[in-house]
Amino acid sequence: MSARTSPGPTTLRRIVELACRAPSIHNTQPWLWRISDTRIDLYGDPTRQLPVADSRGRSLTVSCGAALHHAQVAADAVGLDARVARLPTPGSHDHLATIDLAPGRRSAHATADLRALERRRTDRSRFTSWPMSDERLAALSRAVSRDGVQVVPMTNVSERFRLEFLLRRAIARESSDPRYDEEQRQWIDRSPADGIPSAAVCAGADPRPRMSRFTSHDPMDLDELVQSSDGLLLISTEEDDRAAWLQAGEVLSAAWLRATTDGLSVVPLSQVVEIEETRLALTHELLGGRAAPQALLRIGWQEIGHSTRPLTPRRPVDDVLIT
Ligand SMILES: Cc1cc2nc3c(=O)[nH]c(=O)nc-3n(C[C@H](O)[C@H](O)[C@H](O)COP(=O)(O)O)c2cc1C
Repeated sequence: MSARTSPGPTTLRRIVELACRAPSIHNTQPWLWRISDTRIDLYGDPTRQLPVADSRGRSLTVSCGAALHHAQVAADAVGLDARVARLPTPGSHDHLATIDLAPGRRSAHATADLRALERRRTDRSRFTSWPMSDERLAALSRAVSRDGVQVVPMTNVSERFRLEFLLRRAIARESSDPRYDEEQRQWIDRSPADGIPSAAVCAGADPRPRMSRFTSHDPMDLDELVQSSDGLLLISTEEDDRAAWLQAGEVLSAAWLRATTDGLSVVPLSQVVEIEETRLALTHELLGGRAAPQALLRIGWQEIGHSTRPLTPRRPVDDVLIT
């Protein structure tokens, strides 16, 4: 299908609504959007930045990058060409992107991508023990890596051992500082429109244990957090600035949607990239000093091939549109 006429305001609004389904750190949804004619502008919302876990605004920008990729997927689904300018206003801290939309032709993967966007969620249940093959991780990495952003499968045993050691250290650092815990708690059951519902992080009546930063505070429990059959992907960038963070978020979204299409489940393990000491260690020990780590993803199979957990809430689109 192709769009023959310029998109109207209803279509642009729908694109923003779908873009807001993107994952974001603690479901902060740290974005604002402006719609004008055939253009959508994306802004970071500094009032939604996490002051403790994200003092530089890196995770905020990665989250906005994921929303930017979601917007491109949504535009493709309605047959629109999306021309993206990243950080289009020199000197503006918050203006992250401009998306110019024009009549175009849907790509061959538009329907599958949209379906993945609508189904994707963070399911923290323990994966099955069905192992992730190295080939599958490598294929996923090849499909979504782009200039300046690499997606590195962590399959080598000694690298993986080192990564798990650093992850354990990062969790220990955050667990020993009550400010992290306090900040996290503020985003659990925060409101019906944002934050993480406790049902998404605690097992409740469900017998399948949840594995995440929200449940495992003892760093020694890492064996519970990462199973040997889980796949691990490290997203890294050549630069370590806002442009790189934004693109890392786009790649994070692309990897997550691709994994969803393949029937895989994805859970980020972010502590190791939040703590400066372990970020640096990752850079030098696992990335040869040549790249900055931006996201670590745990990837595996859910029991029935896809998640049936409820979707987490989003703010009404009117709350994120500015004039
Ligand atoms: C940059 C970023 C970092 C994240 N880090 C974690 C994490 O460390 N642990 C976790 O369980 N989820 C993490 N998430 C997932 C978010 O908590 C999740 O996207 C959000 O709660 C919305 O839920 P949904 O993904 O089910 O739509 C992260 C997401 C993003 C975009």
